[in-house]
Amino acid sequence: MNEDFFHKPKGYFKQTPNLPDYETTYKNFSWEKAKEDELTWFEDGKINAAYNAIDRHLTTFRKNKIALYWEGDNNETEKYTFEEVSYLSNQYGNYFKSLGVDRSDRVFIFLPRIPPLYFSFLGILKIGAIAGTLFSAFQEQALFDRLENSSAKVLITNTELSQRVEKIRHKLPHLKHIIIVDEPEFSQNITKQSKDIHIARMDPDDYAFMLYTSGTTGKPKGVVHRHLAILSEHMTAKYVLDLHDEDTYWCTADPGWVTGIAYEILGSWSNGVTSLVFSGRFAAEKWYQLLQKYKISVWYTAPTAVRMLMAQGETLVKKHDLSSLRHLLSVGEPLNPEAIRWGLKAFGLPFHDTWWQTETGAISIANYPCMDVKIGSMGKPTPGVEAAIIDEEGNELPVGKEGNLALRKGWPSMMKTIWHRHVKYDSYFVKEWYISGDRAWKDKDGYFWFVGRADDVIKTSGERVGPFEVESALVEHPSVVEAGVIGKPDQLRGEIIKAFVVLKSGVKPTDELKEELSLFVKKHLAGHAYPREIEFIDKLPKTRSGKIMRRILKAKELGLPIGDTSTLEEF
Ligand code: PRX
Repeated sequence: MNEDFFHKPKGYFKQTPNLPDYETTYKNFSWEKAKEDELTWFEDGKINAAYNAIDRHLTTFRKNKIALYWEGDNNETEKYTFEEVSYLSNQYGNYFKSLGVDRSDRVFIFLPRIPPLYFSFLGILKIGAIAGTLFSAFQEQALFDRLENSSAKVLITNTELSQRVEKIRHKLPHLKHIIIVDEPEFSQNITKQSKDIHIARMDPDDYAFMLYTSGTTGKPKGVVHRHLAILSEHMTAKYVLDLHDEDTYWCTADPGWVTGIAYEILGSWSNGVTSLVFSGRFAAEKWYQLLQKYKISVWYTAPTAVRMLMAQGETLVKKHDLSSLRHLLSVGEPLNPEAIRWGLKAFGLPFHDTWWQTETGAISIANYPCMDVKIGSMGKPTPGVEAAIIDEEGNELPVGKEGNLALRKGWPSMMKTIWHRHVKYDSYFVKEWYISGDRAWKDKDGYFWFVGRADDVIKTSGERVGPFEVESALVEHPSVVEAGVIGKPDQLRGEIIKAFVVLKSGVKPTDELKEELSLFVKKHLAGHAYPREIEFIDKLPKTRSGKIMRRILKAKELGLPIGDTSTLEEF
């Protein structure tokens, strides 16, 4: 087994880690104590996650500290103190209220990473409504599925993105308001609002935000998190991201995904850190410029981004002064050892892998600043989280044995429900365990190692895509009878989406048609969820009950043994 360690040399630490001794803290950790010590509560055990992220800092030295540095696509910059973020989000909240938004109403945000996204999110939580985020690459179909399932009452977007919603609006009777943040009227409405707000006193279990995420079958599911989730997010931002008051922190994720919510809004700000948000596209040189310009010290990114930087070489890195960096982390897909080794060469620092999911709401397994990095492993469970490898019946498997990666129920950011799918929610649990859907194993020292997904979920550039959504989009095309979609391993993107397509009789299987189909999915479903590869096929492998056997498509694609085909229809 791989026992390749990066030992942190003497002088490695520019800061004493917030978690100096993992084993002792892990052993003695108590959520009850953390609740008291780390969060700010209203009377009668009430709480608000947005208040904990922002407003509680206003009575401290952080009041005039920069909370948000923002840089746009065209080098535009803005900056906001904690006090300004507080006031603006209050005004947003008051405005939503004036439109009739009540507690528990769903308010969705469909915006690129611009400041109004962050003020909206906080404003929604402050009035006790439920915030939903939509990745800006989504197109009509993805938008419709999410807005319809959640019965969203309000959508916050901009002029450009609103076009996509206009086409489906007539099918969304619950959607009462579409707010366009780049219209002058919007700014006028915001300025009119009071900077004071009565922050909704919530029960810890009350819903705060929701995110749609893909499984293997059916449409995406609305994973709902409660206000108390911020406790897990706060503790992991403190222990794993190791955020200190002196830091400037950059998380490259988009709040359309869970990382951008947990570690660009809630957990990071609740630690009072100054954050950078960059709304532009990936470009290696630009990223290095940002690291240098903002003197970023803690940087949380994704393996695909690291591989993309790696592809551009080290020389480019060396042209920049990145001496402010002290802690690098990644999430979302396997962090390959080469990426860690390259990080060491390029930045003199290892990337620390972290593992978690939309459903877990916060980092669940991680490599810690205070520990040497066992290269290739995801690390050890975060304090307050118990991880195990279990079999189908919920029995723990011994060290070294591959099985289902599971977490013991009950940490604060464990998803609270699946929106309107209680039975589905229950199906995630076996005995006292939450089943992640990932396969992994644990070594003798308690480190966890990722093996793969137990299901057909695709991870492309770290983004989670359900094959069913892509298949459904493809069959909307007039030339297509049916389609089977898999993740095909890819050096750069981890996986790319590959579609096997059965055409209607008489339709010519041309390269032009392949391109047309890719574009069709890109335009109807989402800009990031389209098949980069298409293969025409006469027939899809199916079970006798008609389910597409993606496992077989994948095995054939990879030249692997096909395995048990006893339930197959003839193929
Ligand atoms: O398969 C695992 C993979 O990403 C899945 C969760 O995706 P999502 O809900 O989009 O959340 C991503 C960011 C929190 C997991 O089931 N994954 C996440 N982190 C890692 C990973 N796979 C390997 N190594 C990781 N560190």
